[in-house]
Amino acid sequence: MTKRTNIELPIDPAVDAEPALAALSARLPDIGIAAAAADSTAAHLTQREAVPAGWDWFTADATQAVIGFPRNDNVWSRIRSLFVKAVAFVGAGPGHADYCTVMGMKALQDCDVCYYDALAAPRLLEHLGSAAQAIHVGKRGGVYSVERDALEVMMVDACRQGRRVVRLKGGDPGVFGRLAQELQALEKWGLPYRVVPGVSSMTMATTGTGMLLTSRGISRGFSVTTPRLATGDAGIPGADELRQSPILFFMAVGKTHTIAAELIADGHAAGEPATMVFGAGTANESIIHGTLATIGDLVENQGRGRPGLLVAGPLAGRTNLYRRDGALGGRHLLLLRPAGDALNRAVLATHDLGGVPVEWRAGEEAPRFDVVLLDDAEFANRFIATHGTDALAAAAVFSTFATDSIFPDLESTALHQPTTAAVQTIAAHLVQESIRSTS
Ligand SMILES: C[S@@+](CC[C@H](N)C(=O)[O-])C[C@H]1O[C@@H](n2cnc3c(N)ncnc32)[C@H](O)[C@@H]1O
Repeated sequence: MTKRTNIELPIDPAVDAEPALAALSARLPDIGIAAAAADSTAAHLTQREAVPAGWDWFTADATQAVIGFPRNDNVWSRIRSLFVKAVAFVGAGPGHADYCTVMGMKALQDCDVCYYDALAAPRLLEHLGSAAQAIHVGKRGGVYSVERDALEVMMVDACRQGRRVVRLKGGDPGVFGRLAQELQALEKWGLPYRVVPGVSSMTMATTGTGMLLTSRGISRGFSVTTPRLATGDAGIPGADELRQSPILFFMAVGKTHTIAAELIADGHAAGEPATMVFGAGTANESIIHGTLATIGDLVENQGRGRPGLLVAGPLAGRTNLYRRDGALGGRHLLLLRPAGDALNRAVLATHDLGGVPVEWRAGEEAPRFDVVLLDDAEFANRFIATHGTDALAAAAVFSTFATDSIFPDLESTALHQPTTAAVQTIAAHLVQESIRSTS
C-alpha cells in the first residue's frame, strides 16, 4: 500500500487558495496537501508582497497566489521543479535571421516572454507567438536599457511564475556573451535552464569570408581573446595568461597520451584538468573528465572509434550545464513518437523537468537512454519490429517502473495519453518518491 505524506500548506486569508491547491493535487496525486490556517515557517500560500525577504517562491496556477518557502527547502524546491519551465538561452547568430538554429527558432516559437539584446537580426522576433512578450534588454546608445541585476531578477521571477522564458543573445551566447553570469542567477535559486548554442561572429567573420582558420599548410589552430579586461582596462594577454587559456584539440582521440605528455613536457602541470567530449550534441554525447596525467588512459578505455574533442586547461571539467536536481534528475528519456507537435511538446517537458530528451529514428545508431516512454502503441510496435525488444529491456524504466502502475508491462504501453502527460507523470512519481523518502 502506498504510504501517503501530507504536506502542510498554511494559507493567507487574503488569497483565493482553491486554484493553487487544485493544481498541486493534480500534479502530486499520491501526496496529500493539507491546507492549514495556522502560520508556519515551512511554506505559505500567500500574495507575492507577503513572501518574507530571503524566501523563495513560485506559482502553481495562473492566479496571483504564490507559494513562498524558505530558500533551499528541499521538499518545496522539489515540488516547484514540477511547475517551472526551463529558461532557454538561445544564440541568435551574427547577422541574417536564418543563421539562428532550428532549435533556437523552436524555442522562440514556444516562449511566453523573450528578453533580447540589440540584435543584428530583429526579424527573428517575428518568430515569437502572437501572445509572447518581447522585452529589449540590450544596449541603447552604449548604455544597457535594463541593469544586469534587474534583468536577472526579471528572468528569475518570470521562471518562478511558470512562464516559458527565452533569453536571446547575439552570436553564440557562450562567446563573450556574459552567459556564465546569467546562468549563475538561475543556479543560485535552483531554477532550470538549457543552452542553445549559436553561430558566432567569430565563425561568420572567418569561415563566412573565406579566412579559413585552419587552412592546411598555413595554420594548425587559432586563439581567440579580447583586449578588454574585467577591470575595464585594456591590453592583450601575456604569454603566461595565454598558457593558462583553454586549448581545444580536434581529432584528438588516439593521440590523447601524446598530447598530454607534450603539454606536461611544455610546462603544464600533470594535475591540470582535461576533458574529452565524445559525440557533442548527439544523443550519445559522453564526457570524460581527468587530468593531463590520467586522460590518456581514460580515453583509451572508453572512447575507441568515436569522434571526440579534447579540452585542456582550467575550464576543463566545468561541464555543469545539465542540472542533476530537476525532477527527472538528468535522466535520458527516449521519446518514441513520430516527429510532430506531440513530440516537440514532450521534448520541452523533458527539458523543463531536468531530463535529457532522446529521439531515435530507424537507421540511426542506438542512443543511450535510461527511461523509455511508450505511449503510442502502433508506433511502439513498429519501433520494436525495427529495433527489437533487447534495446528496450536495457532501459531503467523496466526496472524502475516495472512494479509501478505507470508501465507494468509492454502490453499496457498502449497508454493513450499525450507524451507530455507521461513525462510529467514520471517526474511527479520521482518527486513524490523523494519526498516520501525524506519526510
Ligand atoms: C559582446 S560581443 C558578443 C559576441 C557574440 N556572442 C558572438 O558570438 O558573436 C560583441 C562583439 O562581437 C563582435 N561582433 C558581433 N557581431 C558581429 C558581426 N556581425 N560582425 C563582426 N563582429 C561582430 C564585435 O567585436 C562586437 O564588439
